[in-house]
Amino acid sequence: MHLEAYIAHIDQLKAEWRQLMRENGFDAVVVYAGANQTYYADDQEPPFHAFGHFLRWVPQSDCEHAALLISLDSQPVLLWYAPSDYWYLPSDAPEFCNEVFIVQTFAELDDLQHALHQQTRSKSNVAHLGNVTTSSETNSDPGPAERLLRQLDYQRAFKTEFEQLCIKEATSRGVLGHHAAAQAFADGGSEYEIHLAYLRASSQHEAELPYPSIVAMNTHAATLHYQKYDREPAAEIHSLLIDAGAKVHCYHSDITRTYAASTNDEFAELIDAVDQAQQGIIKQITLGKSYLDLHDEMSERIAAILSEHEFVTCSPTTAYESRLVDAFFPHGLGHLLGLQTHDVGGLILEKDGHQVPPHSRYESLRLMREIEPNMVFTIEPGIYFIPSLLAGWHGHQDVNWSKVNRFICYGGVRVEDNILVGPSGPINLTRNAFSAASADA
Ligand code: GLY
Ligand code: MN
Ligand code: MN
Repeated sequence: MHLEAYIAHIDQLKAEWRQLMRENGFDAVVVYAGANQTYYADDQEPPFHAFGHFLRWVPQSDCEHAALLISLDSQPVLLWYAPSDYWYLPSDAPEFCNEVFIVQTFAELDDLQHALHQQTRSKSNVAHLGNVTTSSETNSDPGPAERLLRQLDYQRAFKTEFEQLCIKEATSRGVLGHHAAAQAFADGGSEYEIHLAYLRASSQHEAELPYPSIVAMNTHAATLHYQKYDREPAAEIHSLLIDAGAKVHCYHSDITRTYAASTNDEFAELIDAVDQAQQGIIKQITLGKSYLDLHDEMSERIAAILSEHEFVTCSPTTAYESRLVDAFFPHGLGHLLGLQTHDVGGLILEKDGHQVPPHSRYESLRLMREIEPNMVFTIEPGIYFIPSLLAGWHGHQDVNWSKVNRFICYGGVRVEDNILVGPSGPINLTRNAFSAASADA
């Protein structure tokens, strides 16, 4: 734990939250970690994922039912639930919380709720954030609490030094997994074996992953969030796309690499081209530029690759303008990264909390904000051979069908790095971690 950085992080959150509380007329906010639900008609639960804004204060995943009370002038109070239980082992409140909060621990939920009620009774306007509903206690109109939440979502894009350290470490941890996965692929492992190699090397069990790892060989790489793990390798291996991340103190990394089975074939050339274009677009990151423009430029670069590598017979401009390029690159260039893999706030362009609808052409683009210092986001272009999308262009003269059909067996390419926006430009956490891991080897 980076205790000094964590204490500074909490100081900054206190100042930012209190200013927004004042602006919205709240003298207290309760942030709930949330509670898990069982599967339908079952007594088993999926892994618990706490509310991101709670984790920002208390980065500890095992925090079900906890609540944090933030007031304008007194020290925040962490109400922690640690039942006396012989079915599951409860966690204590993390030690580092004692440095910054008054920690109250309860064995009974009723007692926790009673204590919370007692401590908020004298407040005149309390916002309750998280735990299914977002509401203001003394105000039937949920407007102000909802607005406060959107403003907090906007601010979450700017990572404090503590958060940057966590994401950097999560990236290094993911890179350890990626190295082992590449080796398992080279050794002839199946998707399942590559998945296990990743888990072991990044020291994570499945429920700790930030998102289910995508381990996709051959045509499986054309399913963007492919979720199965074949136990046996296919008879003929052409490619591997692995999109897998890690967590450190609840902060995520999100990394993708693509490998060709044969290192000097035409698919390896395509991977190189996407890799070069990805690094080229990262060089275009400047403060004040819109991420939407970056996505748009990437679409043009993808169109150029499609034309150069003769997947299309038309000019790059035509492929871009006719949206043919969108059939090969159907997802956004990236997204904010933090306590969620797709972190909140990407479509809130102004600090007033107003959210814009998705872009009319790039509907799956989750980030349209101006690039500013301390943001962390991914850059993840790809080129895929997705039969259902190509079917929309069936027989079209602008597509070189013989080449495209030959590439169906590879599924697709994605290269994904985690980028921190430093005071004067982008810092590629992923490439830095790969370089450091190679230097250590
Ligand atoms: N791993 C999901 C994504 O790249 O957005
Ligand atoms: Mn991503
Ligand atoms: Mn990813």
